[in-house]
Amino acid sequence: MTSPQRHRIRCPLIAGNWKMNKTVVQATELVAELLAGVGQPQDREVLVCPPFTALHAVGQLVQGSPIMLGAQNLYPKDSGAYTGEVSAAMLLEAHCSYVIIGHSERRGYFAESDEFVNQKIKAALGAALKAILCVGESRQQREAGQAEGVVTDQVRKCLAGLSDRDMAEVALAYEPIWAIGTGLTATPEDAQKMHVCIRSLLGDVFGEEVARATRILYGGSVKPGNVDYLMAQPDIDGALVGGASLEAESFLRIIHFE
Ligand code: PGA
Repeated sequence: MTSPQRHRIRCPLIAGNWKMNKTVVQATELVAELLAGVGQPQDREVLVCPPFTALHAVGQLVQGSPIMLGAQNLYPKDSGAYTGEVSAAMLLEAHCSYVIIGHSERRGYFAESDEFVNQKIKAALGAALKAILCVGESRQQREAGQAEGVVTDQVRKCLAGLSDRDMAEVALAYEPIWAIGTGLTATPEDAQKMHVCIRSLLGDVFGEEVARATRILYGGSVKPGNVDYLMAQPDIDGALVGGASLEAESFLRIIHFE
């Protein structure tokens, strides 16, 4: 059977970022519905990122299934007096294989700098967690014609000091801030343009092989109604989904994009 995805160089990754939603009970209900509908996808990967409190319970349920588990953040120290924080080792033990780093909500509400994001990526990779690095420009920056400059600066700083080998464990997510939770999506063409720009920067910094192999996801109001158009773009290698990942029906439709 011919799969419509066979032409792809990179295996698409569909990731749900649940943000500060779902109690343990709600999270296990949602993941049970996802497990019932996900099937056995061969040509795409699926990830859910519940809040910290639900990680362990969801982790138990997804063991041995096609759904992988990720966290939404970590603190870049091994252990110690950091009240309220969670380490990479704690995430691993809760069955996480991924962690989202540098989401614009963390950069904005919690003042996370590119340098701090860089430390977090290194801590994740050092603990054998894969990282999804989020980058993206604000509306003002886009209107001022600075989008590409802002994003390439973030990518450079956040990935500083990483080796080619490290990059095998890193995916990027381009998430224009003005598109997150607003219902406004970048057009597939605009998103594709930025993804090409990011990939070309990866080529300059790490070389062509890394640039070709690194997955660049799009995030920002991805919905059942726009996922197929976005995923049809050659440099969009997946989606980081917020609001539409909170209900099984919409997230399953996104997972099963055409
Ligand atoms: P959204 O969120 O899909 O609700 O826009 C995306 C994200 O913040 O990762």
